[in-house]
Amino acid sequence: MNHPAPPHLTRVPGILYGGDYNPEQWPEEVWAEDARLMRKAGVTMVTVGVFSWARLQPGPDSWDFDWLDRLLDLLHAHGVAVDLATATASPPAWLVRAHPDILPVTADGVRLEFGSRQHYCPSSPHYRSAALRLTQALAERYADHPALALWHIHNEYGDHVTECFCPRSAAHFRDWLRDRYGTVDALNHAWGTAFWSQHYRTLDEIEPPRTAPGPVNPTQLLDWRRFCSDALLALHRAERDVLAQLSPDTPATTNFMSMLKPLDYWTWAQHEDLVSDDAYPDPADPHAHVTASLNYDLMRSLKGGKPWLLLEQAPSAVSWRPVNVPKKPGLQRLWSLQALARGADGIMYFQWRASRAGAEKYHSALLPHRGTRARGWQETVRFGADLARLGELAGSRVTADVAIVLDWHSWWALEADDHPSARMRWPDLLRPWYTALHARRTTITFVPPDAELDGYRAVLAPNLHLLRPEHAQRITAYVHGGGHFVCGPFSGVVDGHDHIHDGGAPGPLRTALGLSVDEFWPVPDAQTVRLTSGAEATLWTEWIVPEDAETVDTYASGPLAGRPAVTRNTHGSGTAWYVSCHLGHDIGAVLDRALTAAGVRPLLDAPEGVEATVRTGAHGTYLFLLNHGDRPTSTPLAGAYAAGGTDLLTGQPAHGHVHLEPLGAAVVRVHPDPQGERT
Ligand code: GLA
Repeated sequence: MNHPAPPHLTRVPGILYGGDYNPEQWPEEVWAEDARLMRKAGVTMVTVGVFSWARLQPGPDSWDFDWLDRLLDLLHAHGVAVDLATATASPPAWLVRAHPDILPVTADGVRLEFGSRQHYCPSSPHYRSAALRLTQALAERYADHPALALWHIHNEYGDHVTECFCPRSAAHFRDWLRDRYGTVDALNHAWGTAFWSQHYRTLDEIEPPRTAPGPVNPTQLLDWRRFCSDALLALHRAERDVLAQLSPDTPATTNFMSMLKPLDYWTWAQHEDLVSDDAYPDPADPHAHVTASLNYDLMRSLKGGKPWLLLEQAPSAVSWRPVNVPKKPGLQRLWSLQALARGADGIMYFQWRASRAGAEKYHSALLPHRGTRARGWQETVRFGADLARLGELAGSRVTADVAIVLDWHSWWALEADDHPSARMRWPDLLRPWYTALHARRTTITFVPPDAELDGYRAVLAPNLHLLRPEHAQRITAYVHGGGHFVCGPFSGVVDGHDHIHDGGAPGPLRTALGLSVDEFWPVPDAQTVRLTSGAEATLWTEWIVPEDAETVDTYASGPLAGRPAVTRNTHGSGTAWYVSCHLGHDIGAVLDRALTAAGVRPLLDAPEGVEATVRTGAHGTYLFLLNHGDRPTSTPLAGAYAAGGTDLLTGQPAHGHVHLEPLGAAVVRVHPDPQGERT
């Protein structure tokens, strides 16, 4: 499908506002009140039908669309558009009893029971045909309904169930391997089956990596992860194809789950008309806004910077953590503005009206149990009014001149068992790098390993454990062309089959980095290693041997004392830095040096805790300032923003300094810069 995305994600103008609406949980009299209150709150779109399968299709050959007809008509009459779900994420009891093979099986052979949701095997033909039949029925009936603005395919692929080990999945896996390798010889080579007598005579002898006596073949596991992402994607594409055929004029999306390990979202995003995300930062985590920012940058990056949609978040507490802390007054507003600051064109929630029964009855909602008297409702109405003032932002873009390479295949390979250290986890390696950039007010974009890198002032790879030679070549060419590259430890170790590169790490990055790794030297838990600069490493160090690279920092304690820790290799005006240890937050000093040399300037100087980003669009340039701290702040408008502007949230001029209360925010439409300083 190829829908014109800008200036709006859907045909609905402005910034989308709304949430999941589950009217089947309520008597019909309540719907009229819902529609009236939605209007009062400024809601422009609701997601309907996500878990409605049993209601829409009460039996194999009976359908009940009347209620949905009435609901869509009602919403339309109140000016509320609909993101209509294909309703396929929770197959009804009658379907799984008729075809028990729909239920997924764990690696230990346990078949998961009906009684929750997402109880389906991605490879089940019975599930697939029933899901497509339902999708078709909905598309035929509602493609031309005037309320329809967006199709919501399935729900959170990869939530609860990401893999199934039943015989049908095993057969599907073998088909996938046949496509990938063609012959059993090619597979034997790729999987390194000479090891532990794992040789296969035919592809038919292969099974999924079920629970085994000891460590399972790592390439088998890596291929299994690739297969599981592809198997769910095949289901998604099948639904999408039905919609593309029957409802070609309405965009379709499925709600991603932020930076989720099981699904390779680079591949998935190619099949989305627009990227949408479900994000649940934890109010109890003081750094939650940094993680959220990272996820939002990823969502924006997945489609090359196009606006995306925050399709679900909690208005206050969730119900699925061990302790579910609510959002204090003003926090949901601030965190929602943060998504806008990072390129979202819609702010939606789970859910509209709080459920009275079921597993999520303690989950917050835009309309809480206490109704319009509740604090939450006041915030719902207030934020709707805020968004109404920000409509001109729709379609504007966030840009970045620093890229971070993210490769799901590398992530999967990195976190396999039987490595030098089990502590090397991609999110933990990435987070300190991202946090340092966030604190420096340097916006980044994520890129896949095969990305065109030339347009970036700096490219960062906190970890690229699995690195294909052709991807390394791009990095090398980038550095030779004058680019600035910073690489984290345990990178360039294995190839696409998870085999150690010839000569060891950093494999195909050896020329770019100008060094080789003699031995990995993980750090025991709770120990630290000092560097000459004063920085401290945990988790990981390496014995590296510089060849062309110069040493920038040296280990000052531990078994590697006196040996190089951080290096820099120069190629003309290009540089390639290697950080051979896990520096945690001390990575900030290295990044600051590398980025300053690369000519990357922070967006502006602001007090600690103030996040700053810029969106630029047809109607202007917008500076977002968000105070995540618990003290009032004052941010000087300098440099490109010295001319000040108008705060769209208040309608007041913003000049000199922007004062923000704790959890306060400003969205300044910046006056054109007389000196033309802004780039
Ligand atoms: C996910 C699901 C929703 C709901 C929320 C609760 O995002 O998509 O159906 O369960 O979590 O936080």
